[in-house]
Amino acid sequence: MLTLAFYPSLELSSHDLNLALVKNNKVLYSYEEQKLSKTQSKEAKYFPERSFIDCLNLTKFDPKKIDKFCLVGPNKLDNLIKNLLWSSKKYLLAKVNSVCPHHRAHTAYSVLTSNFNQCIFWTLDAGGEDNNYGEFGIFENGKFRFLHKILNPSLPKFYFHITGACGFSDFEEGKIMGLSGYGKFRIDLYKKFEKLFSFDNFGNVHYHEDNTYQASEIDLSKYDPNFYRPFKAIKYLNRNTSKELKSITAGYLPQDIAKTAQILCENYAILSLKKMIKKYNIQTKNIALGGGLFLNILVNKKIREELNFNINVPPGVNDMCLAIGGALWTNYRLNKKKKEFFSKNYFFSPYQGPFFKNNEIKKELMQFNLNFKFLEKNNLYKNAAKDIAKGKVIGWFQGRAEIGPRALGARSVLADPRNKKSKDKVNLLLKKRDWFMPYAPSILEDDAQYYLKNYCFSPYMNIAFDVKEDIKSKIPSAIHVDGTSRAHIVKKILNKDFYLLINHFKKITGISCILNTSFNKHGLPIVSTPRDAIIYLLEGMIDLLYIGNFKVFLKLPNNKLYSKIRTDDQAQKNKLSIQYMNLLIKNKEKKNINSIVRRYFKNSKLIKKTFLK
Ligand SMILES: [Fe+2]
Repeated sequence: MLTLAFYPSLELSSHDLNLALVKNNKVLYSYEEQKLSKTQSKEAKYFPERSFIDCLNLTKFDPKKIDKFCLVGPNKLDNLIKNLLWSSKKYLLAKVNSVCPHHRAHTAYSVLTSNFNQCIFWTLDAGGEDNNYGEFGIFENGKFRFLHKILNPSLPKFYFHITGACGFSDFEEGKIMGLSGYGKFRIDLYKKFEKLFSFDNFGNVHYHEDNTYQASEIDLSKYDPNFYRPFKAIKYLNRNTSKELKSITAGYLPQDIAKTAQILCENYAILSLKKMIKKYNIQTKNIALGGGLFLNILVNKKIREELNFNINVPPGVNDMCLAIGGALWTNYRLNKKKKEFFSKNYFFSPYQGPFFKNNEIKKELMQFNLNFKFLEKNNLYKNAAKDIAKGKVIGWFQGRAEIGPRALGARSVLADPRNKKSKDKVNLLLKKRDWFMPYAPSILEDDAQYYLKNYCFSPYMNIAFDVKEDIKSKIPSAIHVDGTSRAHIVKKILNKDFYLLINHFKKITGISCILNTSFNKHGLPIVSTPRDAIIYLLEGMIDLLYIGNFKVFLKLPNNKLYSKIRTDDQAQKNKLSIQYMNLLIKNKEKKNINSIVRRYFKNSKLIKKTFLK
């Protein structure tokens, strides 16, 4: 059974368009449209057509041989949906002969990419085209038992509102997690949050959503016509900040709001799961998680550690890889021998995207005034490892692209985790993202147990780990302020090139990991073509580029702004607090300024003098 599934932009969904081609239970291709269109969210309209073309080129499949064209999202193919499809890309979409609802695709993706024979599945997000917020059930002996649907807003909607209340835009929920590491838990705020929730008889957490949205001040500094993220700018005009939540959080610093909300999400996710397990008398210790909530690596950590679960959280667990779930579900449904659909000891490969041959890469390199040399693979690894150990920031563009928002060693920017300045250097040259956002290490599977407490195999960067005490001082740039790390475990059979690179780095330095961040500027999708990567080098965002078998470098060295590298987190933390107070002053929220100063800065004469006029 060959199925092409796609998650298009319909009326309700306007982000994360993606497509997948799946033969039986084997994914042949999958990619997110935004990486090819170089836009995030709304500008990629209707149908992931660039991914479709790339999929045709790479897999050489004959579209006539496709058995099922699966539309992912709505519950059924009604006239409204048909019209929407017809008006966009009728030549292909008229062929749709299968539909997979949003949460069913989440479930199928998380269960059918695991190697569990038996597990719980739980999906939870801020809402899908199927008018659900999640579903819960058991998978056993090749069969799904759907126990209940989650019909009300839950933790993801709360987190979405908190993101607004902390001053961030839609789709910036990840920043709350990073910021929470710098905050303090506020019990009084926690108690106020608790009043917004209840549990139903099934054990679901219900967030009593307040529909009174409030427009925020337009922050002109966020506008840039070259900034390809329309949500970031446009949504500032009418940011979905709950009015009730805004009044509850007034008077607290954003990092404390983030910390308190993060802890509430972790606690309530555990509580909800415990209630559901008890209600259905579930015995298994495996769980497959799907939907946006489980991008939250701290929630995943807690589910693992507190409930002692083996968890599967596939890459792009929000909507970025939903098409894979749709295609797997379609093929599973039509497969008569359900058990044979799965294979034991199966590791789902995240490397499902575009691939470029050396001759294609060379053709691009010839277009530019650059130095480059061809290296045999073993030499390539050695050279790259040496450069990283010398403090260079390198672009690493190898093999098929990974799916999802995390760089998993195919389209990555790499640096030395031993040097505290690496994080700041990457931030200064490339990312320009908020200073409080952490960077992560990629660690060899063989040695990961010596680096991480309570280790488990985690190949998709979806789980946080506590780093072992004796390791913390060895890799300071790859550890968050709270002592956790979003570690990526590198397995040789999944990514040989990356494994061997880190192995060479280990031979030079004795350290089995490398700092790994995604190959993109802040606000732009991860690079997808050799030309994208070359441009990053030309713009001085990386020192060197290792692409295919080529080592590429500028004719003049990249001296960009190295002197400005800073590492003082405490000074940055204070700056954040002062920025926040200045924002309140601008918004004339005098009452809140006074309460913040009294709460946080009562011992600081300077702050009192500045802000309590
Ligand atoms: Fe979703």
